[in-house]
Amino acid sequence: MNTSLTADQRTDLVLKEMTQDEKLKLVFGHFGSELAWKNLKMHPAAIPHSAGYVEGVPRLGIPAQFETDAGVGVATQGSGPTARERTSLPSGISTAASWNQKLAFKSGAMIGAEARASGFNVMLAGGVNLMREPRNGRNFEYAGEDPLLAGTIVAAQINGIQSNHVISTLKHYAVNSQETGRFTLNAKIDDASARMSDLLAMQIAIEKSDPGSVMCSYNRLNGVYACENDYLLNQVLKTDWGYRGYVMSDWGATHSTVAAANNGLDQESGWEFDASPYFSGALKEAVTNGAVPQARLDNMLKRILRTMFDKGLFDYPVPKDNAIDFAAHALVSQNGAEEGMVLLKNDANVLPLHKDLKKIAIIGSHADVGVLSGGGSSQVYPIGGNAVKGLEPAAWPGPVVYHPSSPLKTIQRYMPQAQISYDAGTDIKAATALAAQSDIVLVFATQWIGEANDAVSLSLPSNQDALIAAIAAANKKTVVVLETGGPVTMPWINQVASVLEAWYPGTSGGEAIARVLVGEVNPSGHLPVSFAASASQLPRPVLDGDPAKPDQRFDVSYHEGATIGYKWFDAKGLKPLFAFGHGLSYTKFAYSGFSSKYINNTVQVKFTVTNTGKVTGKDVPQVYVSPTAGKWEAPKRLVAWDKVELLPGESKSVSLNVDPRLLGMYDSKTKTWQINAAAYKVILARSAGDNDAVSTTVNLPASSLNVLGKKIK
Ligand code: BGC
Repeated sequence: MNTSLTADQRTDLVLKEMTQDEKLKLVFGHFGSELAWKNLKMHPAAIPHSAGYVEGVPRLGIPAQFETDAGVGVATQGSGPTARERTSLPSGISTAASWNQKLAFKSGAMIGAEARASGFNVMLAGGVNLMREPRNGRNFEYAGEDPLLAGTIVAAQINGIQSNHVISTLKHYAVNSQETGRFTLNAKIDDASARMSDLLAMQIAIEKSDPGSVMCSYNRLNGVYACENDYLLNQVLKTDWGYRGYVMSDWGATHSTVAAANNGLDQESGWEFDASPYFSGALKEAVTNGAVPQARLDNMLKRILRTMFDKGLFDYPVPKDNAIDFAAHALVSQNGAEEGMVLLKNDANVLPLHKDLKKIAIIGSHADVGVLSGGGSSQVYPIGGNAVKGLEPAAWPGPVVYHPSSPLKTIQRYMPQAQISYDAGTDIKAATALAAQSDIVLVFATQWIGEANDAVSLSLPSNQDALIAAIAAANKKTVVVLETGGPVTMPWINQVASVLEAWYPGTSGGEAIARVLVGEVNPSGHLPVSFAASASQLPRPVLDGDPAKPDQRFDVSYHEGATIGYKWFDAKGLKPLFAFGHGLSYTKFAYSGFSSKYINNTVQVKFTVTNTGKVTGKDVPQVYVSPTAGKWEAPKRLVAWDKVELLPGESKSVSLNVDPRLLGMYDSKTKTWQINAAAYKVILARSAGDNDAVSTTVNLPASSLNVLGKKIK
């Protein structure tokens, strides 16, 4: 407990004192709730209805690990009488849509503070699986399709969480891109492609935040389960990237003792989900008979203990049920939701709502009482309870939960003169009649997805497309507000005046939506994913696997390699419905003085952004690079961006440096990034689909970089 020693020194001291049985306790995690289908009770020392618990060693002052999900706040496993009512951030994809690292940090700091105040010291947050599959049921937990954007935003959130002396867990490592068949599917991808996409997102997140732990995923990668995958754990993560934290398994993702231990797993989590308690007696025996070296067990302990020292678990023990400032936290969540919302379309400036509107119709999706959230282990139990009870599915990953934050009531508060009528949208005729006699219609549409529950298609479910089309036919001033987990198709897009993507907006989502609609907040979110015009544009028009056969073993061939999202659309010459990076504002921005130069082995860009409109707003200038010779996996890549707030008429100059790895191709044989000598087009754009973007050219000499991006030649 001598805090003047380093985490390494303190680890060595305590490790020397530990018996073999004590060591084994720290590599073996228990579930924090009951497991009805296995007839198992909750571990008595766990925080009730939490994700997990790992025993400590009181004799040596080693604290227990209390684990909670997840990325939008402190979750409750199951519901029951012990449900914790906590603040929920907007979904991860919304935070990514803010393109704002400071905001992501504040969001992480808030949920980390709630985790700590609730007695937890490990938060299973830091979901950074790239969106390869727009129907993936967990897209709302992640940060989109671009490795730089996703890795950077998730890193900021992890830094926020860990500022509370709580370990944050990057997940799900790796290529866990869909929920259908997640326990059995085999993701097939070559090394170079993975290192330039899914792995790059994780590498960037790790470099920028040093998460205490990394969670290996359920799926197999190139034939081997992720949690016993030597390539993923020992070679890439621990050797190439030099990661010093510990690897914990996802709940039910451990499949062996010897292979898992020797191939890099450091801690079995929620063993009750596995076929056997692999890291308990069996591991002890394996070490005794030499199948797992003692040094390997000690290395697991070193990683776990060092992380616990380093992140402050010894020096800042978690309090028991500390008070939480829910009002302040609701505001953090609200700011996040407001900045993550993306105004996709706004014809004739129907938004912000004009103050002289007399009759406003609000239709659909329980917009009178609340806002939707995503299902599964990350579900945060709402403060004040579920606003809409009894929806299907009732069973996990349900129940479907609405945070009690009413868009309608908040709009009414800002527009007291307007007469606002609500229609549930369940009867198209009634909804259309209301629409026809209103000055403007706000139709709310939802897509509920969750863990273990992919979207069946890219279409909005439950006949909502027909509802929207009918309403738009009855009233030209139709504004669609989407609460979706990820992209959806919009067959009615040319009929409606405006579309606002609000994602799952969290605890104060109703307020946030209303404040954007009435113009209290100028929208500044930009898409962190491409919205396909139809499923036929996707690398996999049909989702692989069969949700009805969860045990089926099958391959998913990621033949698109690193050509994900906008890179795929560019490479194939396809026009998406809405491009990656797209997002409108109530003001306008102009760019000037754009220049780029080669300096310090990388590209530096400079430009000035000016707000040429009448209201304050935030812009997201995006820099893409495209080689004029030599082949990349895609015509262009996002290499930098900024988020700039400007008063009307104000200008700011921006200077950005490019991570040189983003200018090269990864070479598996030499484990290097190779930058080709060539001219590169540098583009300053408003989205990946911006046809009016300005560009310059920069000449780069040939160079080689090591895995970490350091120049070697
Ligand atoms: C999920 C993880 C989660 C864990 C613990 C698993 O089902 O995949 O993301 O952290 O459960 O609840």
